[in-house]
Amino acid sequence: MAEHLDARIGTTELALLALKSGVRNAAGARAENDKVLRTFRSDLPRGFGHFLVVDGSGKNIGSSEVDSSGGALAVNFSAIGKPLSYGFRIAGPLRPFGARGLQALAVIYPLDSAGSRIIGLIPLSAIQREVLRRDIPDASLAALVSRSGDVITSSASTSYWIGRRIEIAAARGADSAGRVGTLIGQNGAALYAAFALSEHAPLGIVVGTPESIAFAKARRDMWRAIGWGALAFFLGVLLASTQATKIIRPLYELESDAATLGAGDLKHRSRINSSDELGRLGRSINAMAERLQRREAEALQAQKMESVGQLAGGIAHDFNNLLTVIGGRLELLASGDQLSADAKEDIAEMRGATTRAVSLTRQLLAFSRKQLLRPRVIDLNAIVDEIEPMLRRLIGEDVQIVIAREPRLERVLADSSQIHQVLMNLCLNARDAMPAGGVLRIKTRNQAVTTEDEDKGLPVGRYVVVSVTDTGQGMDAPTKARIFDPFFTTKPAGKGTGLGLATVYGIVRQSGAKITVDTAPGRGSTFFIYFPASDAEFTGEYAVASSEDARGTETILIVEDERSVRELATKMLEARGYKVIAASHGGDAMQLVQGPEQKIDLVLTDVVMPGMGGRELVENLRRLRPDIKVVFMSGYTDDEIVKRGLLDPDVDFIQKPFSAEQLGAHMREALDD
Ligand SMILES: Nc1ncnc2c1ncn2[C@@H]1O[C@H](COP(=O)(O)OP(=O)(O)OP(=O)(O)O)[C@@H](O)[C@H]1O
Ligand SMILES: [Mg+2]
Repeated sequence: MAEHLDARIGTTELALLALKSGVRNAAGARAENDKVLRTFRSDLPRGFGHFLVVDGSGKNIGSSEVDSSGGALAVNFSAIGKPLSYGFRIAGPLRPFGARGLQALAVIYPLDSAGSRIIGLIPLSAIQREVLRRDIPDASLAALVSRSGDVITSSASTSYWIGRRIEIAAARGADSAGRVGTLIGQNGAALYAAFALSEHAPLGIVVGTPESIAFAKARRDMWRAIGWGALAFFLGVLLASTQATKIIRPLYELESDAATLGAGDLKHRSRINSSDELGRLGRSINAMAERLQRREAEALQAQKMESVGQLAGGIAHDFNNLLTVIGGRLELLASGDQLSADAKEDIAEMRGATTRAVSLTRQLLAFSRKQLLRPRVIDLNAIVDEIEPMLRRLIGEDVQIVIAREPRLERVLADSSQIHQVLMNLCLNARDAMPAGGVLRIKTRNQAVTTEDEDKGLPVGRYVVVSVTDTGQGMDAPTKARIFDPFFTTKPAGKGTGLGLATVYGIVRQSGAKITVDTAPGRGSTFFIYFPASDAEFTGEYAVASSEDARGTETILIVEDERSVRELATKMLEARGYKVIAASHGGDAMQLVQGPEQKIDLVLTDVVMPGMGGRELVENLRRLRPDIKVVFMSGYTDDEIVKRGLLDPDVDFIQKPFSAEQLGAHMREALDD
């Protein structure tokens, strides 16, 4: 019975949802509303309820029924029950209205914020007919009751009960489970009764059988026929009620969860967590919400990093040019021999400061991912080997260093000097997190990701993972959220710049890798870097030029639009014996090369210049002189090769700012190649 009742209410609710967008609360909308409601109603089976629209004051502004009295339908809104969680309201029986004296259950749905409502009426007669229609023995009972136990309507043969209160129901309060007990009925006869509350509406159903029937030994047949029947009946009611609780309510809750999330409240979570399909739906709604929330946070973070990066990159670019000149001039100054000891000391100080400024600029460039990377196929184990001795020197006695290398580690495509820097930064942070000593672990391993790892943002593929773990103080959530921000540091002033992890982040991202951190206060921290494994062939490392004072006599053409840099490079190379021709742009350079007997061994060119850029110049030059050697020089630039983030491995390149020594060594190496 309760099941039937819920079905009845459910279909009415669906009808209201369908109707909701068809009707309006507006002056003069009545005729239109009537038409919509009537057309809709005429398609439904007979005995289905009526539909009404009322405005905020309770005035009827639409009806599926022609009201014979012609007046507004009187709807007793004081009888309307508490709103149910999903927006429907169920009212107890309404006062008879209209000429028909209809008693009905009202299912009410709010139409707008002005208080207008759309109402579906389920006539009690229909409930009596359809819900309480089972044949029951004389003096038995099947009744629809309110929450407090007042009988609203009952099966026809038990009209005695209408208007009475059934105490078994009242005693059970808001408890949704069915209860059984004894009722005293007509003529003092005891009824064995069960009560089931609809979870869907503030209503219940009571069924009862006279005890004399249920328990009389003499009427064993009857007991079998009715007793078991009644029991099955009670169980059915119980089941229907729990089914209603189990399915209908969670569905509405899920619908409202989805709507809340859809409205942008991504913090909302569904509470539906049962072990059935609905629970699964609830959990997947929650998982989706979590994913969306994470994506939103990531997008915000990426946006922030992008804008800070742009700012940092812009500053770094200009600084780079300035530092090239300052550093270079200081170097030239220092090599003069008529300097007093004092002057030499000053110059040394200035050079030291310049070096620090260069290193800061480099970090900013790395963070802004505007740095030129020179990726090669590398073995991360080899890099770990390389940094190990340095680490042992930098890290105090009380920190134990443990290195675990995967023996057959896959190769990755990355710029080894950058990866050095990444690992060093992570290790130095680890050291700083363990002032009283601890263990620093560096580990390499291969890892296959077979289904997309959303948490870490890793697509399917093979990865090489390098992790750096410390047993230090760990981080709380607010700290963890900011560690990659440039200039975020918790270290005392003068101790940390807060650029360490910003640099790491930039390099890792630019290398196509991902970094994650696992940490909690007091539990230490582990940073994981996931590099995509590379199938390219291992080419070995490029030898690092180390010739202390490489000199030469060849002719070098310098093409650079920035006068100070051009003059500096000229001075640096002339001081090493080279013959230098300088051009301020590509067109100039082409003319110089075209000169008939102009011998040029190498072109050192800037990448970005007004007019003909470095690349175009080189293409044109190669057409004239296929064997000419080329070295590009650049700091940060907006150049297309930088946008790609990479330089072809076979393009020779020197990064600004450079020292005379670096430039000399680089020229020698390129010429001897
Ligand atoms: N392993 C770690 N354990 C605990 N906290 C850490 C760890 N690594 C980084 N942090 C936190 O992140 C902050 C930022 O680190 P980051 O390396 O960017 O800057 P820094 O170490 O403070 O300064 P810098 O590296 O420029 O000298 C640190 O100040 C610290 O609060
Ligand atoms: Mg650091």
